[in-house]
Order: sequence, then C-alpha cells, then structure tokens
Amino acid sequence: MENPIELNYKKYFPLLLENDIAYLDNAATSQRPDCVMQAENEFYTKYNANPLRGLYQLGIEATAHYEESRECVQKFIHAASSREIIFTKNASESINLVAYSYGLSHLHAGDEIVVSIMEHHSNLLPWQMVVKKIDATLRFLECEPDGTFSEEQFEAAFSSKTKLVAITHISNVLGRQNPIKEIVIRSKQSGAIVVLDAAQSIPHTPIDVQKLGVDFLVFSAHKMYGPMGLGVLYGREALLEEMPPFLSGGEMIQSVTREGAVYAELPHKFEAGTVNAAGAWGLQAAISFMQKIGYRTIEKREKILTARAMEGLQKLPFIQIQGSPNPEEHCGIISFLVDGVHSHDVSSILDADGVAVRSGHHCAQPLLQHLGVSSTTRASIAFYNTKADIDRFLESVKTIRRRMGYGE
Ligand code: ALA
Repeated sequence: MENPIELNYKKYFPLLLENDIAYLDNAATSQRPDCVMQAENEFYTKYNANPLRGLYQLGIEATAHYEESRECVQKFIHAASSREIIFTKNASESINLVAYSYGLSHLHAGDEIVVSIMEHHSNLLPWQMVVKKIDATLRFLECEPDGTFSEEQFEAAFSSKTKLVAITHISNVLGRQNPIKEIVIRSKQSGAIVVLDAAQSIPHTPIDVQKLGVDFLVFSAHKMYGPMGLGVLYGREALLEEMPPFLSGGEMIQSVTREGAVYAELPHKFEAGTVNAAGAWGLQAAISFMQKIGYRTIEKREKILTARAMEGLQKLPFIQIQGSPNPEEHCGIISFLVDGVHSHDVSSILDADGVAVRSGHHCAQPLLQHLGVSSTTRASIAFYNTKADIDRFLESVKTIRRRMGYGE
C-alpha cells in the first residue's frame, strides 16, 4: 500500500515549489493550491459582474457562482440550509456579527457569557465589548496546563445565568481539540447558545454543525487553502431570522423609504455592500480540493508529522512544549519555549535556516498569562508538509542555544 507520508502534495502549491522553505506557520495562514488561484482568476475572467444585482446574462452568472459557493459551504459543514451561511470578510468579522447583532439584542444586564481562557482575541474582545455595553458578566472557563477542563472548572464557569458560550474548537496555541459536544450539553442545560470558533479546526477535521449542535460557527477561508479576505458565519436559521442586521447598506434590503427599510431575506440581510464573489468561488475550489485529498489523508499525514516533530523536540532537554506531552492532543500545533532564548530570536534563527514559524503571544494573551509565559514559538503543520520539513525544523532547533552563545 502507498505510504501517505511519501506522497508529494507540495506540487499543488506554486509558492512551495518556487521557494525552498519549510513552511510551518499554517495556523496563521495556509498556502493556496493552484486550483484556488485559478478559480479566483476564472471568476474575474469569465463571470465578473456585481452579484445579486445585474439582470443581464453576466450578472446572472456572477450571482449563480456566488450562490453555488454558498451551497458548497453548506454541504461541507452539513448545515440544514444555505440560508444559514453568511459570507463575511474573516472569522473575526463573523464573531463580531454575532456579538453586535445577537449579543446586543438578546442578552441583558446580569446575564453571563462564558469564554474559555484559551480564546484567540477575536473570540474574546467582541464579548468584552458586549458585557460592557449591557452590564453583563464575562466568565472564564479556565484550563489545566495540558489544555483540559476539569469538572470544577466547568462548575465555576457555568451557572443558570449563562446565556452564551463562545469557545474555540482547537486552541491556536495548544492545539488541543475541545470537547464541544460536552460543552454544548452543559450550555443547553443553562439555556445558553453556543458560538464555536472553528478557524483552527476546519483545516484539520470534518465539521458537522448539526451533529455538533452549535448555534453559530465561524471560520476563515485562508486557513483552509482558500483566499484571504473571506470568512464564513453559520447560524441556525431561527436565530438569524430574529437578529437585526450587523452592517447596513447596498443589497441587504427589500425596499427603502426616506424613513426606513425592509430588510432582505436571509442570508442577504447580513451581506451589505458588494460581496467577495471571486473569493467565494476560490473557497468553493478549496473545498473541492480538500475533498479530493480527503480528511482521512489530511489527518493521517498531520498526525505522523506532528508526532515526528514532538518526539524530536522532546529529546532536547532545553525545550518546553506547552500543553499535553501527547502528540495526539496537538492537531498539528506545537508551541514551545527554548530555555534562555526569546521566542523572537528562536524564529529568526529558524528563518535563517529556511523554516517559517510564528513567535509571540499568538493573539491569545490571557492564555499565555494563565500558562505563566510571555511568548512562545509555534510550529503549525499542514498535510502538505513533509518529513524533510520537520527534520529541517528539528536540525535548526538543535543548534539554537549554541548559536545564542550557550555552548551546547
Ligand atoms: N489566528 C492566526 C494565528 O493563530 C493568525 O496565527
């Protein structure tokens, strides 16, 4: 049988063919395959007109491609209806949409919002804004150093006042996949709705919004091989129906008078202004690309590579890996410290050796404070990475302390 790890997937990614680098910053953004860039180009060369407006042939084709992309996303995440899929500019905007529209209209003084301590700032700041505006309270679901939640931590965070739970599916620092089904059950017991940040999970693991039972789910296209500048919000239709628009303007209305407006039906009520139709067509191509590769292959390759990287790092006495010591709990994300060396120096040395990783607080400062660290270096793996990428990374890490003058 063909060994999945030996296959060359870099051939689909022009940047990886052109550049001799070990690209290990996939949690920040993935590379894009040629088919995605071709799809965006195809939209502009064959179907370009402003979707949802022109009644001429080209306008109709632009609209058809945009709506086909929406249906593709709907099927990919198993939403019940394409009316539940809203295109935004990124995952942050999707969360802001829920915070401003649902949060400010449905939550009240004295209510509690639960977020986990490991949220990316994009799933924290919008909720800080909501609680300040309506005099509600933000509760933190703390975690153990390995990223798990204890019964006591759940009990301290949840109460009968909990009305909304906003949580990440996979931490962008620890890489651990959170127990969403359990969190949904607890949330429903409190009568709370659940907003799931799937930005880090959708590149690695299949998503079924109906099986997960979440009320809202967000992700961005650029971390799953799609274009930058396009995000998705999934929302349960009944909730989206009763929510006011977030942004207002062109094409989100049925009619306008001097005094007011009747808003458009879902999903267009939430898509004010000219949409990123070429981006949506690119996302459709990214989804089709991922389906051809298959999540089984993606998961299998990423597991093998993550284990290789972690086992290599664990042999080095001067490395401290954040989170679980078990590679199975890392979903391709490994954050670590090098004794005596600042993470910015670590990433600069790796860069000099052609290895791209991210260093800093990863937009998750409360988690880093909770872990007692100010910054880490993060290697994040995609299925197109190779054993050679991981070995190049490990060889470089081995030399860091010596190059910083520690003599080992
Ligand atoms: N959210 C992205 C990251 O974790 C940018 O790097």
